[in-house]
Amino acid sequence: MQTHDAECLHFHDITHAVSALGDGPLTENALRSHIHPLFSRVMERQEIYLSNHSLGRPLDRVSDDVARFASLWQRDMDSAWGAWLAEIHAFRAMLARVIGVSSPDAVVPKTSAGQGLRAVLNALPPSRSGGPHQIVATRAEFDSIDFILKTYQTKGHVEIRWVETRDGLVHEDDVIRAIGSRTDLVVVSHVVFATGQLLDRVGDIVSAAHAAGALCLVDMYHSAGVVPLDMQSMGADFAIGGSYKYFRGGPGAGWLAIHPRHLATEQPTLRTLDTGWFAKKDTFGFARTETPLLASGGDAWMECTPSPISAYQANAGIALVLALGVDRLRAYSIVQQSFLASDLAEFGVPVRLIEPRGAFLLVPSRDAARLTAELKQAGLSTDARGAHVRLCPDILNTRADLRQASQTIARVRSTTGL
Ligand SMILES: Cc1ncc(COP(=O)(O)O)c(C=O)c1O
Repeated sequence: MQTHDAECLHFHDITHAVSALGDGPLTENALRSHIHPLFSRVMERQEIYLSNHSLGRPLDRVSDDVARFASLWQRDMDSAWGAWLAEIHAFRAMLARVIGVSSPDAVVPKTSAGQGLRAVLNALPPSRSGGPHQIVATRAEFDSIDFILKTYQTKGHVEIRWVETRDGLVHEDDVIRAIGSRTDLVVVSHVVFATGQLLDRVGDIVSAAHAAGALCLVDMYHSAGVVPLDMQSMGADFAIGGSYKYFRGGPGAGWLAIHPRHLATEQPTLRTLDTGWFAKKDTFGFARTETPLLASGGDAWMECTPSPISAYQANAGIALVLALGVDRLRAYSIVQQSFLASDLAEFGVPVRLIEPRGAFLLVPSRDAARLTAELKQAGLSTDARGAHVRLCPDILNTRADLRQASQTIARVRSTTGL
């Protein structure tokens, strides 16, 4: 498949708009002239949107892309599969570039990040303890991950050694100390969902897992598309993530990435129970060998009939991230976060700035959920986790937005006492 050409042609409007920005750092003026027009529909909303870490704002063209999926179906019926599979291939190829894996097949579409975790749990080789698999995970993993692990534990499939946070933070050395000679799998987030803490020593955790003979899965939901990533040099065996935040691709377009070192052989040692006919060698040959024969490489991790519409929904946003470049997005996010932090401080709003962190910052509150609801009434979209309101500016927020948001937060805090 001529993916690269297909990507370029397919996302011509995006590459054209981004090339008008020039090669230098992103600036508000240039973004307003060339990129904001690609979002005219969502920009009509009458509120300041700082929930970009929760549900990313979609490009206008997402409606057309999803309609394209449907018109191919109506026009071509079963001949639509060629275009549909090409779209799925583009999804895998673009994400592989964003997270730094060498081959597109290393990225496997999933409906959610949690589905990716389950595929890994269902692929672990026999446990080293002889009993349930021994997992090390932190208390700071996202609810979906936490819930799946606890469910596996309740069923007796795994035993979990939980690493507690201290001062609300994950300490890499605590995770490393929890890894033992019987650990089978370590599960850790690269950026913590509740606080935005970036584990810049996640590579040390991966190395410690490997030194102990364990595998390591890194949840990249809050780091992919936000911080420059190179999964292969990080060494993680698995990564999970999805599209509905920073890739602006809506729900349903999650992914699991497998380090190419586990994909080298035709009948690999790691094979998952989460399988189906798209993981078969020669899916459309319809051969039924008594021993299941797997496709080569990452395709062995595919499962049943995949969902093309998720790729149509997500690909434009991923193409935009690639075209803008994660380096430039990261630099711009840091500048915006520092503007926001200083505006908040100027208006007397307390800010918790965790260093290093991902794309959002925190405002502590004695009732963060209620404060969020009050802010929504006042025309500012945010959300809350625990004792903090999370605020995430992005390329569609202007400097004026950030100032107005800070003023609104100060006013609402003083009128409500929250
Ligand atoms: C760190 C992290 N992982 C995973 C998810 C989503 O998990 P799932 O796709 O299984 O619902 C989120 C969503 O907020 C998240 O923040």
